[in-house]
Amino acid sequence: MKKVTIVEVGPRDGFQSVSCMQIPTEEKIAIIDRLAEAGVQHMEITSFVSPKAIPQMSDAAAVAEYALKKYPDRDYFALVPNLRGAANAYALGLRKVCYVVSLSTSHNKANINRTHEQSLAAFREIRETYPDLQLDVDLATTFGCPFEGKYLDPQQPVEFLRPYWEAGMRSVTLCDTIGIADPAQVRRVLCAVKEAYPELAVQVHFHDTRGLGMVNTLTALEIGVDGVQTALGGLGGCPFAPGASGNLSTEDTVWMLNEMGYDTGIRFAPLLAAAKAQKEAVPGNYSGHHICVEKETPCQF
Ligand code: COA
Ligand code: ZN
Repeated sequence: MKKVTIVEVGPRDGFQSVSCMQIPTEEKIAIIDRLAEAGVQHMEITSFVSPKAIPQMSDAAAVAEYALKKYPDRDYFALVPNLRGAANAYALGLRKVCYVVSLSTSHNKANINRTHEQSLAAFREIRETYPDLQLDVDLATTFGCPFEGKYLDPQQPVEFLRPYWEAGMRSVTLCDTIGIADPAQVRRVLCAVKEAYPELAVQVHFHDTRGLGMVNTLTALEIGVDGVQTALGGLGGCPFAPGASGNLSTEDTVWMLNEMGYDTGIRFAPLLAAAKAQKEAVPGNYSGHHICVEKETPCQF
């Protein structure tokens, strides 16, 4: 059985998109518990960002503290935009964070108010300050930007990543922040990145704005990636990327991969129950399909 690493990002990418209410911390924790029970081993549980930028993430410390204590052996990590975020995460005991930077200069400015030079300088600063921290990179808008359009040259992300590789990046997630990628582009970009950096771990993160999240993810899996990111229920949409919808949904992805004979390590029934419970408790933009199916046909796994 071919193993595949599914990385759940709903508690960060999904929850951050919810602006009509402050989701109670207990509710976030309950959903993380349900995901953990379904077998989710890899999860972005929150982000250590400015509460002025994303008020929804202002309980990052409480969420992280809970998850770290309850699941010390799992790969549960957080997103950070700067040294301050990394310091806060590190102080709580987290030893893995994802540092976010956008390939697009205008999205980088809108999202984290930094130039590319400032973002690179901050990455180096975090790398040097916390040598024992696993510092992965989320490359937002890899495939296109809400302000600048689609990126057609696969060498653009390759060259952008070079100073990060030289500064110690050993894992990157290529993020399709606005759901603009197509399978041919995914193939071109992934092949170029893998050829340029054979030692780099590469993951993918697709939003489902145009219904292409699944085929893009499958394309990436067939080429070979170290993980695919998805969000429970397909909840989401970047608050700083107008028009973006949620990530590809975790339960839709797990259902397909389980049926295809991949080993996801995740049980579908409790996962779907978690997605349905989340939809009841958290109003938002859901792109998942299984949560709309009233009567579930028993599946193989
Ligand atoms: N955690 C908590 N607070 C933080 C912080 C962090 N990581 N970084 C900065 N702050 C606080 C500062 O203390 C300051 O507060 P004050 O006004 O009360 O003094 C305020 O936030 C602004 O800080 P500043 O350094 O001037 O940053 P900025 O206004 O240029 O914003 C970011 C830059 C990166 C902090 C902000 O844009 C951000 O958090 N973006 C995250 C966006 C995001 O999560 N997008 C979705 C994920 S891809
Ligand atoms: Zn995203």
